[in-house]
Amino acid sequence: MALTEPVISTDPRGLIFISPERFADMENWHRTAAEIRRDCPVMRVEVEGWPAFWAVTKHADVFEVSRRSDVFFNTPKSAPGPELQYEMMQALGVDLPRTLVHLHGHEHDIHRKVTNDWFKPAAVSRLQPAIDEIADEYADLLVDLGGECDLARDIAVPFTLRVIMNIFGVPREDERTMLELTQGLFGAGDPEYLGDISDPVELITNNITRFENYFDDLAADRRAHPTDDLATVIANGTVDDHPMGDVERRWYYIIVATAGHDTTSYALSGGMEQLLRHPDQLQLLRDDPSLAANAAEESIRWTSPVRSFFRWAQSDYELGGVTIAEGDVVLTSYPSASRDEDVFADSMTFDITRPDADKLLSFGLGMHYCLGAQVARREVRTMLNKLLERTSSIELAGEPEWTGSHFVSGVKRLPVSYKLR
Ligand code: HEM
Repeated sequence: MALTEPVISTDPRGLIFISPERFADMENWHRTAAEIRRDCPVMRVEVEGWPAFWAVTKHADVFEVSRRSDVFFNTPKSAPGPELQYEMMQALGVDLPRTLVHLHGHEHDIHRKVTNDWFKPAAVSRLQPAIDEIADEYADLLVDLGGECDLARDIAVPFTLRVIMNIFGVPREDERTMLELTQGLFGAGDPEYLGDISDPVELITNNITRFENYFDDLAADRRAHPTDDLATVIANGTVDDHPMGDVERRWYYIIVATAGHDTTSYALSGGMEQLLRHPDQLQLLRDDPSLAANAAEESIRWTSPVRSFFRWAQSDYELGGVTIAEGDVVLTSYPSASRDEDVFADSMTFDITRPDADKLLSFGLGMHYCLGAQVARREVRTMLNKLLERTSSIELAGEPEWTGSHFVSGVKRLPVSYKLR
């Protein structure tokens, strides 16, 4: 089903921030974003059905908005989207989201504290043996797949899903449910992932209710039988010395399950897509696997699968030559900021040796900085090396396809052919 673009009353280039289809053509997307960075780096966007917002596209400005959490607040509407989705949730009595990205200030801090230590670099390093084992298992699939596969669907998606489910402590037989739910919530806009959209109200509520029921059962189980997994940490989490509320606990599970999966698989499949398009880069990594950490960083900079978040200005604020008024909404464009030519040398070139890859803003910054950044980095660099270890040659065997979603998106089909070592 073809989706029509919403009506925009400001500069039509502003559609790139909200139109799902635009994100399915990233080359054009980045061309337009570069123009916007040059012409109007903080751009007013008014689109029918959406809150009016300022699109923030320069690295320095996204950096500033993210750091100034005293001025720019996160709210229950932090995930960019049409007003209708919230109106429907409210009309149906569904709780508005209360994940870490929707909370602000003290409330955010006490909830983040529940898992913060679990995700610190030293703590995450203990996950490496499990990540290696799961990566081996999925790289082994290359043998069964017989020389041709869809690297996104067959490897990147199930690998990253298994890692996050392993961290949670969720059994394999529940992975299909998790995949459907994640793509239903995050792939918003891509007809392939939406399912039956003849009744959007039912679609949203079904997804949320299924998630809630699933995670309520999980929490009850981990309270009765605690283990050393993340599900147990969240089930027994306390905030200000009280058990975490039911709503917050459910949303905590939802954010880790959703934010920890599609994001990383898109970074991996998008990084591989670039390596396949640049055989010289692929060869560099084959010759020197120690480049994998920087190759992962560059893949995440390049793909920036989380497209944006909304923040609400609490007072008037000068940014990039415009005045953001109190109450205005700003949209932080991570893919644009991470290609800013003022920060990244030759920013539109994919280069696994670039020294400035670590300046990426793809994980955001400040108090909401991505909780799972260290896990994601490890997953991507581990799998990049495993794929090259197993193959003596690998190349594109068809045109890759991108997800059409304004929120989290990337390469969803990556047909390849390969020879095993
Ligand atoms: C390449 C993969 C990933 C990307 C590009 C990404 C990107 C982001 C971005 C842009 C934010 C918002 C930052 C901000 O507002 O300043 C975020 C927050 C978050 N991410 Fe990730 N993420 C990735 C992987 C993961 C993984 C693997 C997990 C979990 C294991 C995860 C869990 C979270 C959580 C819980 C938050 C909310 C943090 C807060 O508000 O305090 N992410 N991520």
